[in-house]
Amino acid sequence: MASWPTAWPPFLFGAATSSHQIEGNQQNDWTDWEESGHGVEPSGRATDHWERWADDLALFKSLGLNAYRFSLEWSRIEPEPGQFDRNALAQYRAMILRMRELGLQPLLTLHHFTFPRWVAKRGGFVHPEAHQWFNRYTTQVMRHLGDIVDLFVTTNEPMVLVVMGYLIALWPPGGHGFRRAFRLIDRLVDAHRAAYRTIKDFKPDAWVGVAHHLIAFHPWTQLPWDRATAAVLRHLMNDRFMDKVGAEQDFIGVNYYTRQYGRLLGGLHPVQSRPGMPLTDLGWEIYPQGLLEVLRRVGRFRRPILITENGIATSQDQVRSTYIRDHLSQVAIAQQEGLDIRGYFYWSALDNFEWAEGYRPRFGLIGVNYDTLERNLRPSAAVYRAIIEANRGQY
Ligand code: NOJ
Repeated sequence: MASWPTAWPPFLFGAATSSHQIEGNQQNDWTDWEESGHGVEPSGRATDHWERWADDLALFKSLGLNAYRFSLEWSRIEPEPGQFDRNALAQYRAMILRMRELGLQPLLTLHHFTFPRWVAKRGGFVHPEAHQWFNRYTTQVMRHLGDIVDLFVTTNEPMVLVVMGYLIALWPPGGHGFRRAFRLIDRLVDAHRAAYRTIKDFKPDAWVGVAHHLIAFHPWTQLPWDRATAAVLRHLMNDRFMDKVGAEQDFIGVNYYTRQYGRLLGGLHPVQSRPGMPLTDLGWEIYPQGLLEVLRRVGRFRRPILITENGIATSQDQVRSTYIRDHLSQVAIAQQEGLDIRGYFYWSALDNFEWAEGYRPRFGLIGVNYDTLERNLRPSAAVYRAIIEANRGQY
C-alpha cells in the first residue's frame, strides 16, 4: 500500500459536491427520471456550477479548505458508448488544475449515482458487461486527467444506489427485487475492482477507495430480536460491500450522517429516529457519537480512513455549526484512540439538488439563492474555517 505522500497536507480539511447535484443541465438517467415526474422537482440548471466553477472554486478556497471532493459526470464525458467528449474532459482538466493552483487537493469521484442514458437503455448497471463499460470510461479519465489527480473514489455509496434504485424504487431505475439488487452489488464490486486496477496500473502511487455510506445501527430495544435485526442491517448495509472489496482500497471512505434502529417488527426497514431526538430538516437523527462508532468498526481494516462526507440539511445555520463542531470532536477522539484518520469533507460546499428531495434541504456552507443563483457564505462556513485554522499543522 502506498504511504501518505509528504507533499500532501497531513490532514485534509475539505468539502464535497457531486456533478449532478450542482453542475446543471445534465443529460443522464436522472434527468429522464426527473422529467417523467419522479421526485419533487427536476434538477434543471441546479447551481449552474458548470458555468460558474471558477468563481465557486475561489469561494471554496476562501473557506480555508485544503481539499475538495467532486465528481465527474460520466454522461458528459461519454455521452454515447465509446465516444468521448474532449471538451468535457478539457473543462474538467481546467477545473482540476485550478484546484491545484488554489491549494485544494482534488479528490475525484468517478461515479456518484448517475449513469449515461445509453447505460440505462441497455438495462442499467446490472448488465453483465457494465463493469467493462465503467473501466473503459476510467481508462479515458486516467489518460486525460490521471497525471493531475492522486486521490480517487471509484464509486459513491454503492449500497444506497442499490437500496434506493432497486429495492425502495425512489430513484432510477425504480425497481423492486432482491435478485437484481444483489446482482447490482456484485456488478458494483466488479466495477470498483476493475477501476482500482486501471488507476493503479496508470499510477501506482494513487490512493483509491470507495465512499461507503455507514449508518450507526442500534437496536430499538435491548431484546435479542431487535439486537439481531440491528446486526443484520449493519451487516447488509455497512459491512457487506466493504468485505467484498477487501484489500483493494487504499483508504476507507466513510460517509456518515445519522443513526437508525433495527426493530424486528419493522423487518428490514430500519426505524429512522426515536421520539425526542434532535432531527435534521430531512428527519434524520443528529447523533455525533455514531461517527465514532462507525470509525471504530472500520478500524478493523487497518487502513487510513477519509471521512468523505458528513453534513446536515438545516435551515438553521447555527445548528450546522454545532453539528460540525460535535462531529469533529468525535474525529479527535477516534484519533486519540489510534485510528488513522486523514481527512474530513463536509457535505456540502454549497446548497444543491438533494435527489428525490429536490432543492428544499440546505446542506451548504455556502447558501444558493435559486432565483438569482447568488452565493452567500453562511456563518457556519466561518466556524469551519476557524476550526481548520486552529488545527493547521497539528495533525
Ligand atoms: C450522500 C450522497 O453521496 C450525496 O449525494 C447526498 O446529497 C448526501 N448524502 C446527503 O443526503
